[in-house]
Amino acid sequence: MNLGTPIFELKNVTKQFGSFQSLANINLQIWAGDRVALVGSSGAGKSTMINLLNGTLLPTQGEVWVLGHNLSRLPRKSLRQIQRQIGTIYQQFHLVDNLRVIHNVNAGHLGRWSFFKAAISLISPMEVGTAAIALNQVGIAEKLYERTDRLSGGQQQRVAIARVLVQNPSAILADEPISSLDPERSREIIQMLRQLSQDSGKTLVTSLHAFEYARNYYERIIGLRQGRILFDASPLAVSPSMVEELYRTEE
Ligand SMILES: Nc1ncnc2c1ncn2[C@@H]1O[C@H](COP(=O)(O)OP(=O)(O)OP(=O)(O)O)[C@@H](O)[C@H]1O
Ligand SMILES: [Mg+2]
Repeated sequence: MNLGTPIFELKNVTKQFGSFQSLANINLQIWAGDRVALVGSSGAGKSTMINLLNGTLLPTQGEVWVLGHNLSRLPRKSLRQIQRQIGTIYQQFHLVDNLRVIHNVNAGHLGRWSFFKAAISLISPMEVGTAAIALNQVGIAEKLYERTDRLSGGQQQRVAIARVLVQNPSAILADEPISSLDPERSREIIQMLRQLSQDSGKTLVTSLHAFEYARNYYERIIGLRQGRILFDASPLAVSPSMVEELYRTEE
């Protein structure tokens, strides 16, 4: 990749669902190593934005460029190759509950493994070492062979992060990764994501309901309101009145 190319670039992007405009005329660039919080109230368009960035959704108008490629112009196979470079973590973890942790972590290899290798690994786990290292990084090394649904919510989110580490993407997207966790667990997960991004230089984009986490843990905050960017600034530049406007409900 060319050094001058953003990891993500949205050029005049609009996303409609039927006649409803979820995002309108969005322009933004996210660079290698950026740590960006996407904030805004429910329905502001945060998940839509995350899903555009990982190619799950394509824009109705405008262009989404990822790692120097216009996603709308890519053949399916090339799109998958780009998507392998983007790891996504979700609010509900998206793990297979009744499998052991190692299999959920190994799912991070799926973009690279053949169907055959993946099937064999379900019986006799492969690359145990890689999975163990990833689990160690997220602080639950001892859970390798535990059934996933026996873990707490915070631990399950750690498994989801370990899966992304095994995937080893260039960028990590996290869509409300802490919404189902208590405040202490939330802080741990946000700190961990930040640390992993710092240590590896991976770009991190996290959507969050709570503004405080954005302010305390991210260098750049993008405020979305009704599908538009209200501000795109460093935490210090975001004033209380801007936050108030962000979450203001219509009279
Ligand atoms: N697949 C869809 N079909 C129809 N409307 C959708 C779809 N996805 C999102 N929307 C609408 O687009 C708007 C933005 O949704 P989005 O999920 O991006 O918001 P959000 O900021 O992530 O909200 P939340 O904080 O509740 O997760 C909402 O009004 C939502 O109803
Ligand atoms: Mg959402």
